[in-house]
Amino acid sequence: MVRQDPEFFTRLFGQQNPEYLWIGCSDSRVPANQIVGLLPGEVFVHRNVANLVVHTDLNCLAVIQYAVEVLRVRHVIVCGHYGCGGVRATLNRDRVGLVDNWLRHVEDVRQKHLRQIGTEAPFDQRCDRLCELNVIEQVLNVCQTTVVRDAWERGQTLNVHGWIYALKDGLLRDLHLNLDTSDGVVPAYEYALAQLPSLQP
Ligand code: CO
Repeated sequence: MVRQDPEFFTRLFGQQNPEYLWIGCSDSRVPANQIVGLLPGEVFVHRNVANLVVHTDLNCLAVIQYAVEVLRVRHVIVCGHYGCGGVRATLNRDRVGLVDNWLRHVEDVRQKHLRQIGTEAPFDQRCDRLCELNVIEQVLNVCQTTVVRDAWERGQTLNVHGWIYALKDGLLRDLHLNLDTSDGVVPAYEYALAQLPSLQP
């Protein structure tokens, strides 16, 4: 890095000034910076199993608060990925251990969208759909945090996005969910849900 840019670390040491907060899965195949092609210093990152935003998770809430209020990021990206092990385990009702209790939040998403996911379509299709629905629900959760509501209330520019990454081809897909006001949240959520094609049994 120093060969390419002798000042790189000096600049980075001075301060971080990221424009983006990334909330993604802990999966080792889904590294935030590489996927979006950003350098150290350009993206603030929170990752956990199955990219969940849980209203009582102080870890995630603290990251969102610091990113929005102190770093003043302009974009929050919730990025899921197809083939997520946490989502697969949930759909398959696997017992893995302690993590099952964390994945209970994915099961809540499944139950909320039972009609969408169904039981007829092939497992992989249902799994992909649950990965997408999980991102959409977590975007909703981000928008409903006090931190994001307060930011919008005081007129801070903040966009929240829902994306999904495919390990198969390395491409990011937009889930048609981009929010920048409290009023827009429910219609945008419903629009995003309506964009998902129906599953083929
Ligand atoms: Co995952």
